[in-house]
Amino acid sequence: EKIGHGQASGKIILMGEHSVVYGEPAIAIPFQETFISTKVEPDSTMILDCHYYSGALSEVPPQLKSVKEVINQALIELHQKNMTFKITITSTIPAERGMGSSAAVAVSIVRALFDYFEVPCSPETLLHLVNRAEKIAHGNPSGIDAAATSGNEPLFFIKNHPLESFPMNVSNAFLIVADTGIKGQTRAAVSDVAHLFEQNKKEISQHITELGRLTKLAKQAISKDDVHTLGNVMNQAHDQLKSLTVSNDQLDQLVITAREHGAIGAKLTGGGRGGCMIALAESKEQAVKIAAALKSAGAFATWIQSLGVKK
Ligand code: MEV
Repeated sequence: EKIGHGQASGKIILMGEHSVVYGEPAIAIPFQETFISTKVEPDSTMILDCHYYSGALSEVPPQLKSVKEVINQALIELHQKNMTFKITITSTIPAERGMGSSAAVAVSIVRALFDYFEVPCSPETLLHLVNRAEKIAHGNPSGIDAAATSGNEPLFFIKNHPLESFPMNVSNAFLIVADTGIKGQTRAAVSDVAHLFEQNKKEISQHITELGRLTKLAKQAISKDDVHTLGNVMNQAHDQLKSLTVSNDQLDQLVITAREHGAIGAKLTGGGRGGCMIALAESKEQAVKIAAALKSAGAFATWIQSLGVKK
């Protein structure tokens, strides 16, 4: 019997979350430690089987509305509105931790359905379908999660611009990712920043512009293999994100712990208010020490990933 398969990896925003919604650039990298798989097989009715829910697609809880939408839209795109399937999703990406799990789920579903019908899925179609799902999941997304989880290269991303891949030209840099264990609140954080922006345009737009400037500095630092400057701008970005009210005590505490244990930079990543933080280290040994310290300080899980491509 025919089966369709699709996969997607998670993503990490290195720099530029939130300000990216206002047109400033951001840098995203694939998070290779985590991925999502979707399996599609014919069934007598539409069934969804995932970590959260197992049952009829028509009765999914509100959190899974975007999943339902992406399945329906992909089937319309494939001219297969009347076929019914069992769709099974398995994931090692922690959900709602700012790692792009909602976009990655959508990417893996679209890939699995196109695979089932043996129709090639162009990058444009994939992005279009995933962005529609993200609008439902996140309200006003910049599109960075969809872009980052549908490719497997680092991106220098600007909203509504053609995708620009970006070589991570650094030799000795390791990223530690730590999960606070608290669900991030991307949707709420993005809409709170929008309210702050309405109330106090002058101050908030200064923070946003500054985050954009820091992201451009990070890009320059990476192209010069200057990890110290990169760490420094990450630290400054965390302060700016705090001013936008998207950090919280747990994230701030982990950022401080990482710096105390030798990280050359540390900041929250993704939507904030929970979710994950990242720290930058110059050696694997240092990264291992920082990860252990973050665990002792209460991180729910940690991962280490080499940032660069150069050896
Ligand atoms: C979420 O991963 C990144 C945010 O900038 C929201 C977005 O860009 O859509 C917080």
